[in-house]
Amino acid sequence: MPNPFDFTGKSVFVAGGSSGINLGIAEAFAAAGASLAIASRSQERVDQACERLRRHGGKVLGRSADVRDFAAISAALKAAYDVFGEIDVLVSGAAGNFPAPALGMSANAFKSVIDIDLLGTFNVLRAGHQYLRKPGAAVINISAPQSFNPMPLQVHACAAKAGVDQVMRVLAMEWGGDGIRVNSIAPGPIEGTEGFRRLSGSAEVRQKMESRIPLRRVGTLADCADLALFLASPRASWITGALIPVDGGWSLYGGGLSSAQMALEAGAAPGR
Ligand code: HXC
Ligand code: NAP
Repeated sequence: MPNPFDFTGKSVFVAGGSSGINLGIAEAFAAAGASLAIASRSQERVDQACERLRRHGGKVLGRSADVRDFAAISAALKAAYDVFGEIDVLVSGAAGNFPAPALGMSANAFKSVIDIDLLGTFNVLRAGHQYLRKPGAAVINISAPQSFNPMPLQVHACAAKAGVDQVMRVLAMEWGGDGIRVNSIAPGPIEGTEGFRRLSGSAEVRQKMESRIPLRRVGTLADCADLALFLASPRASWITGALIPVDGGWSLYGGGLSSAQMALEAGAAPGR
């Protein structure tokens, strides 16, 4: 019986794939045999990530592109299609975040997160559709518990990620007939990431947070990557329109327990 988690011969595109959770997902697909294309703003970060991905022995392509720029992300997707052929797995994970109260946020600060997370996801999926394998492609949005749990200091991310999930649900309906599945992953606090550094801060907050996570630990890159591999595999062939938390049960407690709020209570100053 073929291994459902062998992605040899498959092509994977990861928007925002130059670091953190998204790079962890890209690496897991590379290790599983896939050809990888990644895009993010910084060419330097893209180049470094590509070097890491190449260690797995497969084909790798990196492009600098801002997901807020439809033409730029379209060009990156087309480049992947030209080199690897139809895209089997499309991951939309570019995001921006900083803890700030609504009153400490300019309209442009709010808009910058909406534009990266929400408009960016629309752009990646809208531009990507023509290059996806039909039938068979899997689209995976990287969401967050903010999408369904309101959290203080996170009005931008809560609004943006809620929108990301609705984009996922609508496109699951519109594209199901093409044989394209569209799902979202909602990671909880994942150690070793920029998001964790920005929102969870100190060892004290981490400890407090872990005591409130039902499975009593923060997450790892591998926790997220394993879910992405499953969602892209034939074992998930009847799953579409789903938002799946990978958070040790953290989100069950609700948004009042946001790590940013805990950091604030522990005396951290919100802001840059
Ligand atoms: C208030 C802030 C701010 C802060 C920036 N701004 N940081 N306002 N508090 N801490 C304001 C700026 O003053 C500006 O408004 C506006 O936001 C845009 O800032 P720019 O720096 O010009 O924008 P840009 O270069 O596009 O950068 C976007 C960014 C930046 C989001 C601000 O931080 C970024 O590039 N982030 C990408 C990496 C990242 O955030 N990774 C973590 C993802 S984690 P004005 O009015 O002055 O023009 C994540 C976690 C989810 O999503 C959940 C975890 C559990
Ligand atoms: P990260 O390392 O900062 O990852 C964000 C990535 O997106 C970077 O590669 C960044 O590269 C890219 N990016 C940012 N803005 C972009 C833009 N406008 N256009 C193209 N690429 C852009 O952060 P992370 O913590 O791993 O987060 C990754 C994903 O997981 C995000 O969707 C985040 O919301 C989600 N998430 C994270 C956590 C957590 O605990 N870390 C929890 C829940 C959800 P450039 O700077 O080169 O553009």
